[in-house]
Amino acid sequence: MKVLIVGNGGRESAIADTVKRFHTDAQIFVAPGNGGTAKAFTNVPIAADQIDALAEFAKDEQIDFTIVGPEVPLVLGIVDRFEALGIKVFGPNKVCAQFEGSKRFTKEFLMRNDIPTAKYASFNSDEVEACVAEVENFSLPVVVKADGLAAGKGVLICESYEDAKKEIREIFSGKFEGAGDTIVLEEFLTGIEASLLCFVDGKTIVPMETARDYKRALDDDKGLNTGGMGGFSPNPIITADVKKVIDKKILEPIITGFQKENLDFKGVLFIGLMIENGEPKVLEFNVRFGDPETQSVLPRLKTDLIEICNACIEGRLDEINMEWDERQSVTLVMSSKGYPETSHKGDVIEGLDTLNPETYLFHAGTKKVGDEIQTDGGRVLAITSLAGNLEEARANVYEELKKIRFYGMQYRTDIAK
Ligand code: AMP
Ligand code: GLY
Repeated sequence: MKVLIVGNGGRESAIADTVKRFHTDAQIFVAPGNGGTAKAFTNVPIAADQIDALAEFAKDEQIDFTIVGPEVPLVLGIVDRFEALGIKVFGPNKVCAQFEGSKRFTKEFLMRNDIPTAKYASFNSDEVEACVAEVENFSLPVVVKADGLAAGKGVLICESYEDAKKEIREIFSGKFEGAGDTIVLEEFLTGIEASLLCFVDGKTIVPMETARDYKRALDDDKGLNTGGMGGFSPNPIITADVKKVIDKKILEPIITGFQKENLDFKGVLFIGLMIENGEPKVLEFNVRFGDPETQSVLPRLKTDLIEICNACIEGRLDEINMEWDERQSVTLVMSSKGYPETSHKGDVIEGLDTLNPETYLFHAGTKKVGDEIQTDGGRVLAITSLAGNLEEARANVYEELKKIRFYGMQYRTDIAK
């Protein structure tokens, strides 16, 4: 079997490893991949947003199965492109990818289907003054969001109306380019966040094990927002009781809504939740695996990932008996110096071959130069440990971390604390 994974991060490394775990003889291509996938698999020098070139490659190479990691190609319509050529691909089509490509699209869907979420208002770029005026109808802090994809930077939590109005004008003036043609204002929700990644086949939604992500760069949730600096799975905030509420108030109406609105969503729906006093509300939808949630969740998967993804495509998810490792996972991300503001590249990474064989190592911002693995900026590596409890898994990853060295290595010391 030939499998193509689109993307180059820690998430794609985890997807490729998980495929390999069940298909030891599979030929795995990663486009464009990283230093780790260059070693373990075959990298293809095509960027994730080059959807025509990727489709051509998949056709020429007779790829049997493609899994798309990042949101950009999904929003660009990579799935429709592959399907038109008759190539099997896992991910939502362009229409359904709007759940990540447009925050307004998602808010309107949530409201129409009575799914709990923050109160909101949305405006186009010809409604600047109306948007500025509306801000004062929200309590402080108020959340200002660029509607489209802004590489994780488009959400601003404003402590004053003045600040919010300034942000609104900047966004409408092109701060986030096309992503800011529409703005969503939101009520600020308090509580604890959780990530729930779900497989969806159009008519059935099956959540994976729960996870938690640490978005801020520094300890104690200080510093700038990042792609995610670590995580763990399962997430104890989602108790059995909360799960029941999620099923009834969120998952069931999502599936009913998809069917009512003829949205043939097939792929991973990532539901960002805020939970307070046992009541979950939807913060956002993503249409793909999370990063680093995937590095925490997939090592616990005991069922063939390709079989699950294939069942999603064929509308047979209800036939799959998904099994999970009972153990707790903890994932720690190591980033390059200065992340997320600046990036340092080209530093040699040492110690990777001294890790305990039971530790999962996922490359992200790395490149292979001769026999060396060097940093390539951003989030560089992630390691995951599984253990009987959170404390043990946490102790393991921090012990393993001591073996890895590169210039300016940056990480949080309070993951899973
Ligand atoms: P989003 O991309 O919409 O998930 O926003 C990124 C992050 O901003 C979330 O993970 C939350 O930490 C925060 N956030 C977004 N919307 C809200 C909200 N309405 N209330 C509180 N925090 C929010
Ligand atoms: N970890 C958050 C995300 O993947 O969007």
